[in-house]
Amino acid sequence: MNNKPLIVGGLLIVLVSAFVVGLIAGRTSELHSGMPAPEPAQAPPLPAVAIVPGPASQQIDAIRRGVPIDQEAAPPAMARVENTDIKRNRAYPMQPPTIPHSIDNYQVDKNSNRCLLCHSRANADKFQAPPISVTHYMDRDDQFLATISPRRYFCNQCHVVQTDAKPLVENGFQDIDTVLSHGKAN
Ligand code: HEC
Ligand code: HEC
Repeated sequence: MNNKPLIVGGLLIVLVSAFVVGLIAGRTSELHSGMPAPEPAQAPPLPAVAIVPGPASQQIDAIRRGVPIDQEAAPPAMARVENTDIKRNRAYPMQPPTIPHSIDNYQVDKNSNRCLLCHSRANADKFQAPPISVTHYMDRDDQFLATISPRRYFCNQCHVVQTDAKPLVENGFQDIDTVLSHGKAN
């Protein structure tokens, strides 16, 4: 007589019922043990990794400032906006000048453009602000419009406030005057 299937079936039933019993026992002991549920693990405080830019070759992303990918650096303090009315040099003639004043709460949207209150040709004298230059009235076909060109309407697309933020990456840029003066020295 071949009773192999019977033995295998019986073994299976025993195993499954042992599993179910174990599961139920586990659940109930958890419920009735009276122990408070374990607190979800708290994230460990961020290690104060010194933010020293590493060599460029070791950086995956300059914005990580050389901090290894498996570590988290304490973020640097937010940069302060300079509100000194001191203009910075333009690095090249067509650089949009940086904004030497703060622009907090200046509304620039479909309904209103706060910047033009002072910087439009008509109001510049009242506020002693430099009027937007002629390029701001030109459309893409170099035609001069009566009012600001739509492509120059959202000022912050090109102009940024001046802050005391440190450059994220090294920069060896030299302006044209420096390059020309090198030529003279040779
Ligand atoms: C209350 C008037 C006023 C408003 C509003 C204003 N500005 Fe100015 N802006 C000035 C004045 C005045 C200066 C000249 C420098 C100074 O006194 O800060 C200036 C300077 C600038 C400069 C420097 C120009 C240069 O030749 O270097 C830029 C760029 C500029 N503003 C952009 C903006 C932008 C963009 C906005 C809107 C987000 C804005 N301004 C809103 C008054 C204003
Ligand atoms: C598409 C980029 C762009 C946008 C948008 C833009 N600008 Fe400019 N802006 C420039 C550039 C480039 C310069 C410098 C060269 C020039 O005058 O065209 C400049 C120059 C200026 C200057 C100095 C003018 C001078 O005679 O020295 C002021 C002031 C200014 N912009 C204000 C504004 C304001 C206010 C707005 C929004 C209404 C605005 N810009 C929008 C790119 C832009």
